[in-house]
Amino acid sequence: MRSNYFIYRQQCLHQTNPRGIGKNPVFSWKLQDSRKNVFQVSYQIIVKNESEIVWDSGIVENENTRNIAYAGPQLSNGITYQWQVTSRNNYGEEAVSDWAEFSCAMLSVDFWKAKWIQAARERKPLTDCTDFGALMSGAVGGLEHPEEVLDSPVYFRKEFISCKHVKSAAAYVTARGIYDFLIDGKSIGNRLAPEYTAYKKHIEFQSYDLTEQLNKKGTHAVGAILADGWYTGKIGLLGIGNQYGEENALLFQIHIEYEDGTQEDIVSDETVKWNYGAYCYADLYAGECVDFSAEPVGFCEAGFNDEGWKAAETVDYGYENLTAQSTEPVMILREIKPKLLRTPKGETVLDAGEDICGFTMFETDTKPGIEITLEHSEVLDQEGNFFQNIVGQHKNQKDRILPKETRTKYLPKFTFHGFRYVKVTGLQEVNPDDFTICVIGSRMDKTGSFTCSDDRINQLMKNIYRSQEGNMVCIPTDCPQREREGWTGDAQVYAQSACFHMDVQSFMERWLYDMRLEQLPDGQIPHVVPDLESNKLLNGGNGTHESSAGWGDVCVILPYAMYQFYADETILRDNYPMMKHWMQYVEENAGESLCDWGKLFHFGDWLIPSIMSETGNPVETAIRTKEEAAMAMFAYTTDLMSEIAAILGELEDVDYYMKLNQRIRQNFSREFVDGKGKMRQPLQGLYVLAIYFHLLSEEQKAGAIQELCRLIHDAGDTLDTGFISVPFLLDTLWENGQKELAYRLLYQEKAPSWLYEVKNGATTIWEKWVSILPDGTRTCTSYNHFAFGCVSDFICRKIGGLNIEEPGCKKIRIQPDFDCGLRFAKISFDSIYGKIAVEWEKENTLIKMRVELPPNTSGHIVYRDKNLEVGNGIYEFEFDRP
Ligand code: BGC
Repeated sequence: MRSNYFIYRQQCLHQTNPRGIGKNPVFSWKLQDSRKNVFQVSYQIIVKNESEIVWDSGIVENENTRNIAYAGPQLSNGITYQWQVTSRNNYGEEAVSDWAEFSCAMLSVDFWKAKWIQAARERKPLTDCTDFGALMSGAVGGLEHPEEVLDSPVYFRKEFISCKHVKSAAAYVTARGIYDFLIDGKSIGNRLAPEYTAYKKHIEFQSYDLTEQLNKKGTHAVGAILADGWYTGKIGLLGIGNQYGEENALLFQIHIEYEDGTQEDIVSDETVKWNYGAYCYADLYAGECVDFSAEPVGFCEAGFNDEGWKAAETVDYGYENLTAQSTEPVMILREIKPKLLRTPKGETVLDAGEDICGFTMFETDTKPGIEITLEHSEVLDQEGNFFQNIVGQHKNQKDRILPKETRTKYLPKFTFHGFRYVKVTGLQEVNPDDFTICVIGSRMDKTGSFTCSDDRINQLMKNIYRSQEGNMVCIPTDCPQREREGWTGDAQVYAQSACFHMDVQSFMERWLYDMRLEQLPDGQIPHVVPDLESNKLLNGGNGTHESSAGWGDVCVILPYAMYQFYADETILRDNYPMMKHWMQYVEENAGESLCDWGKLFHFGDWLIPSIMSETGNPVETAIRTKEEAAMAMFAYTTDLMSEIAAILGELEDVDYYMKLNQRIRQNFSREFVDGKGKMRQPLQGLYVLAIYFHLLSEEQKAGAIQELCRLIHDAGDTLDTGFISVPFLLDTLWENGQKELAYRLLYQEKAPSWLYEVKNGATTIWEKWVSILPDGTRTCTSYNHFAFGCVSDFICRKIGGLNIEEPGCKKIRIQPDFDCGLRFAKISFDSIYGKIAVEWEKENTLIKMRVELPPNTSGHIVYRDKNLEVGNGIYEFEFDRP
């Protein structure tokens, strides 16, 4: 039986059982105990390999449960270590964890004996359209004949003999492109490896344990299939190939240690042979085309006849930019059984029932000679027919399968799509049971949950989570279909909500690492990370300025949000030089008045609905709002910078940013607001920013709040905010005596609103507030953009009542707003210390509330006129409704 006090969620470098870590391990765990005032008084960590103890921390007397650095002898690569922690509490009880695992891949540059290899071939000439105007006008669409433009993935193989008893063996593999890695005919490569990073400066390698595999003495075969992926594929907003290079390449090294103490490396070099195989092409966006009759069956098995295969070419790309995989891999997260629809036009369509990121897999009866196609889209048209809402160069989202047998199993490897519907052609009969929709993403723990008495809000929260799930494939993306880029603004807007719903620490840390690498010499943060050469086309006419307020600001806002959730100072410290450099760029461009920053190009309060319906042009929202939006964000980031500097003990900087912040605030109110609080432009979002970031005098503020309310009422009590202001809209109202109006916007079903989407059957958060127009028209926009899901943060704090008072939830304020119009709400959050839960419910004249706080934390619970200081534990209350 489990005792009251127990340990769960052991993490090494913020990952669960990571394979092949490249850094000294740090260990973390969470505690659970339902009794009051429990805290850890000591811990002891043991690291072992099989039965041999490698490190014993000894009993360490403190309550730390996070980031305990390994301090034993040097660890070896390629072997699996087990670790266990024992935690003792103030009741004198002990909790002993399970054994968790990790292995190391701390490879220095001289480790690599392998050579980068590639196919000696001429690739098809790049004919992609690079005319920005044509691309943005929608004139360039998907490919009619992708095979004419796309190159085929390459198969590699090599045999080797292992004739001694193996003590340990591990393969270290990476690519320019994406690879599947095979040993003795079995695919063992991670999905979409080596994943998407800032390739010009950083590529990760993966580690695979082969100890068991190579223990069979004899001839073995190692193989790989290498596809374009992000490296040479048709990626990003503009769908232009060769963003990082002109040809894919592969690198692998199998390091074997024998029982007799000798070592051997099997490496990629000119002895590797290559050929084409079943894949006619495989592009992340356009889709895959697989001809099963062309598969070189058994190509990765010993004894395969590789006559006609050619020697690989070696290339010198160096090893300096390689680091070990630093976050959990992309994998199939869950599977969905689709429903079959026959559309009015007679199309055969599979419906996943929800908008997801992934692919369609099947095993079904086929016959040779047919071609099966699977085309993916997010919505049906008004009549219920298939409708391709994803448009743009190379954005086919279509897989093509040419069977060889009477039964075919197809599992895409080198592509994925953002979709709910799949149009199937080529099969006489489609049996939906034969199809599975696979949801993919970077594996992360789900940490947040929220439910309440209003099913519309429950659906909204589900949609927000689903949009996050669909946009966390290697990097935080804007959408999983059209662009799939690491748009910095989107991640900035959604940062807090992202940290609530999932444990994003190692995932975001890797992205921030790439952001540091991609920062331009003058301090700018590119619009997307990893940066894309083709996005320079977005910069037409802007000189050297290629960043934007609210987007580049991610480098300050995201680490700050992560610090609130993970209480890990290294997140701030590692990124502090990047933040300062960015702030310096902003300040340099702000001029004496500090207003000039807004005169450069910015996305402004992107996608304001009224401007969108008036002009149909998103750039118009940018032009009209950029000056105020840029300066408001400048005030916000200087404010955060002074706080961050204080945490890091950079006292001079605290003073510097505080003074700068004061000047910005003064100049903002002078420049954009009259004495009565009226702004130059009557836009809700600009009022929100001015009020929320304290940019107004007391007198102006009172007038501005009135104006904001008037604008909302004039819009029929609907919101009219864009990207930058929406996270603060409801809080601004709530905190300024207008909470009733805040809730009216939250529960509003008229467009534009969150529940308008829900009412229209959304299963994810849309890019535009009215991606489906009130008349039912489906627009060709994305239906899976997490940015506007940032409202989740408000819901959790105000309705759920969960407020972080000290980073990491060390101290929590529980203060639900019972006047939120709901009958009950339940929230739980698996913080770094353990589970926090709040449940409240109205029953006749009473309110019942239950609060749970994990060991090592404390909080205060605020209700009616009470403010109770509490330690951890479970608390139950009943009190009269006000
Ligand atoms: C993306 C956004 C992004 C924006 C820049 C769009 O095309 O999908 O989410 O932030 O461009 O304004």
